[in-house]
This record gives sequence, structure tokens and C-alpha cells, in this order.
Amino acid sequence: MKVIRRIEEIRKELKVFRQGRRKIGFVPTMGYLHDGHLALVRKARNDCDIVVVSIFVNPLQFGPAEDFKRYPRDERRDLNILEKENVDVVFIPSAEEMYPEPQLVFVYVEKLSEGMCSTFRPGHFRGVATVVAKLFNIVQPDIAYFGEKDYQQLKIIEKMVRDLNFPIRIVPIKTVREYDGVAMSSRNAYLMSDERKVAPFIYKALSEAESLFQAGEKQAEILKNKVRETLESKSLNPSIKVQYIEIRDAETLEEIDEVNTKAVLAIAAYIGNTRLIDNIILE
Ligand code: PAJ
Repeated sequence: MKVIRRIEEIRKELKVFRQGRRKIGFVPTMGYLHDGHLALVRKARNDCDIVVVSIFVNPLQFGPAEDFKRYPRDERRDLNILEKENVDVVFIPSAEEMYPEPQLVFVYVEKLSEGMCSTFRPGHFRGVATVVAKLFNIVQPDIAYFGEKDYQQLKIIEKMVRDLNFPIRIVPIKTVREYDGVAMSSRNAYLMSDERKVAPFIYKALSEAESLFQAGEKQAEILKNKVRETLESKSLNPSIKVQYIEIRDAETLEEIDEVNTKAVLAIAAYIGNTRLIDNIILE
């Protein structure tokens, strides 16, 4: 496994593979890897000849009051994990390598970057789309893998690739969960033990709404109220502070009142100081 920190060097390394017509799979991450990330890596390993993983905590996608500085990092541990997964190349650039001068070019995907998480994290998806576009130009993969856990991000990247004609196939991967339903996330490391105990209620709330939907309920308002009831139940200690509960068209992310086509039910909520997101597909 090669660990590369320079753009020039990874370009040189991958050029040889590309000329040999080897299929390159790419998994962009911010590190502190867990089994959710590894589901993407394993799919890439299965589909492709060469697997490239990037680890970069991208300052451009964090707001000034967000957790950029305290975002969990453990490079040694991540490299050990990736070595065991038979990854070929790990790209770990510094912020100076990625942004040697002030970035003046940005990718902003209209409409899809409005509402849901962006209401509470203005500029976040501009930062994500921009860094992913840069990484795509650096790695030039054939296929790139993204998790459905970050559903809005996935739809934004898919649209960016279509509208800007990146010759890259985006493969979505189902959300990987802990034994009790909690969606795996690097940010789960922030949770105190009492907070971790209420975290399963997020997926529980989504699942209850899904059952209601499967039983025939199509009204978004009723489904969302069901979720809110569970999340804001007085018996939860510590409490879960809902940021949003939304039901949107699964492709356009437009708000819908009635679920007649494939839709996403998405939640963002705080437990203590930790912001968690999760979603489920209704179809
Ligand atoms: P990060 O949060 O590290 O996630 C990297 C990839 O892993 C994303 O595609 C994310 O959706 C996926 N992922 C995370 N948790 C998952 C889970 N429980 N199940 C399945 N997939 C999961 O998302 C980012 O980094 C960044 O925004 C990035 C795209 C790297 C740009 O900086």
C-alpha cells in the first residue's frame, strides 16, 4: 500500500495504471474510519483493479463555529485498517497541498444544496462539491463510492458529475449501522455513554415512520409527526434536539406533501453537542 501526500506524486503513480487500462476505484473520506467507510472500500476492492482512498479533513466544508479543529483524526489507525483491506493507494494531502493559495473557484450545485443540512450548515455543500471536484481531477477514477448515510451529499455529487461531465460513475452504498441501528459515523466518537444510549432512537423513529408508510400512510406531515413524537419523547434523557425532519423526493430533493414516488425521510438532530444525521428511503 502506497501512502502519498503530494498531488504531483499521486498523478504520476496513477498514470501508469490508467495507461495499463486498469480500472481505478476511489473512496474519498475524512478519516477516522469505521465499518461504514469500509463498506465503500470493500465494494471498490470488489469492482476495481486499483483502489484509492483519500483522507482529508476538508476545512472548506466546515463553518467557523463547527468542529473542524476537534474532528477526530488517527492516521496510524486508519492506515493499519486500509492496509488490511488491500487498498493500493492512500492519498493524505495537507491543507496547504490542496489549497496552496486562496481558492477562488467553487462548485455549487443549485437547488439540491438548498434546505435540509444546508439550512444549518451554510456553505457546507459548496465546500464538499469543490473538494470532491478537486479530488476527482487529481485521482481521475473510473468509479467513486459514496454512502447513502449522507444522502444530500450523494445527490449533490451525482448531479455535479452529470452537469460537469466528469467521466466517473458514482456508486451509492447503503448505510451501515451498529447492532442497535445507530448509523456509523466518525462523530459517534463524540457521544458520552448516556448520549450513546439515546442515539438508537433516531433510527427507531425512522423505522416507525417507515412501518406507518408501509401500512399505507402517504401524508408527509403525519409521517414526520410520528418521527417527531418519538424523538421528542419526554422519557429520553438526555433529550434529542431535532434540527429538521424532512421528507423529500429521493432524486430532486424537492419537498413533497404526499409520498407517491421514491422519497427520502431525513433527520438531523443534536444529542448533547453532537450533531447526527440519518435517513431512510420510502418507496
Ligand atoms: P466522511 O464523513 O468521512 O464519509 C466518507 C464517505 O463514507 C461518504 O461517502 C459517506 O457517506 C460514507 N459513510 C459514512 N458513514 C457511513 C455509513 N454509516 N454507511 C455507509 N457509508 C457511510 O463525507 C465525507 O467524509 C466528506 O464530506 C467527503 C465526501 C470526503 C468530502 O470531504
